[in-house]
Amino acid sequence: MTRVVVITGASDGIGAEMARQLAAREGAQVALVLGARGAPLLDTVAGQCQALGAQTLSVAFDAAIQEDCRRLIRAAMTRFGRIDVLINNAGRSAHALFEEVDDLGWYEELMRVNLWGSVWCTQAALPHLKDSRGSIVAVSSLAGLVGVPGRTAYCATKFALSGFFEALRVELAPSGVSVTVAYPGVVATRIRQRGFKARGEEAGVSALKEEKAMPVEECARLILAALARRQREVVMTAPGKLGRWLKLIAPGVVDRMARNAVKDDLQAQ
Ligand SMILES: NC(=O)c1ccc[n+]([C@@H]2O[C@H](COP(=O)([O-])OP(=O)(O)OC[C@H]3O[C@@H](n4cnc5c(N)ncnc54)[C@H](OP(=O)(O)O)[C@@H]3O)[C@@H](O)[C@H]2O)c1
Repeated sequence: MTRVVVITGASDGIGAEMARQLAAREGAQVALVLGARGAPLLDTVAGQCQALGAQTLSVAFDAAIQEDCRRLIRAAMTRFGRIDVLINNAGRSAHALFEEVDDLGWYEELMRVNLWGSVWCTQAALPHLKDSRGSIVAVSSLAGLVGVPGRTAYCATKFALSGFFEALRVELAPSGVSVTVAYPGVVATRIRQRGFKARGEEAGVSALKEEKAMPVEECARLILAALARRQREVVMTAPGKLGRWLKLIAPGVVDRMARNAVKDDLQAQ
């Protein structure tokens, strides 16, 4: 039977790479529902997946709008009649010291994209995921486990996302729907260029040393491996794993690690 996988934020970066890897691995056995705002890039990714044998459906949608999230899931059901996996991946970043921000409007916008978009898609897809005893993935971040300076908005969205899906995992255990939360570190995508800056403008450039970033292929592979094993979570990078335990016994050290990880970015602000 064809497995139906819905991926939000599938037009670029980690979401697009997960789509390509699923298509490469499963070919005609997988139907990919690809969602993002920008139709042209979505169609490019859909074409790459079709060339690998997968069926695809591209849906231009804005995760910050509840009705768009419902429409994405309706479109998946109308076309394929079932949903086996929902990967909540769409997200934006944001880099600003809290004191530099006058208008907090974009903090709310970021929360709609990074948290509410995932909640709305999950609510719409849940009856279908229960029917298929399927799987949900939420792409959080190491910034959803540790407070990072210059990331108050982003950390708030990712801590909230992790909290929502941690609780949902326990609620859904009896229904056979698995919930996997992914915690990537710095991954080589254009997310930092697209992130919000203090006045809500797009950053345009990344202030981090991108050569140290995890390749997007590796990140996508780790998430898909965790999904296949129905793992509760996947924490990426050695400092990410270490930081999790250190936070319990030496939280000040973790604060310093977080500051150090973004020191170039802080100097640029
Ligand atoms: N890259 C990293 O270092 C990193 C680290 C930790 C966690 N993450 C998380 O991984 C996820 C994917 O990030 P990425 O690095 O792959 O970013 P990316 O390369 O910038 O791709 C983001 C994707 O999300 C889509 N998107 C953005 N805003 C959207 C909206 N309002 N509605 C629907 N789709 C939207 C984008 O397409 P459109 O702009 O066309 O909508 C694009 O397809 C995010 O949740 C991010 O927070 C990334």
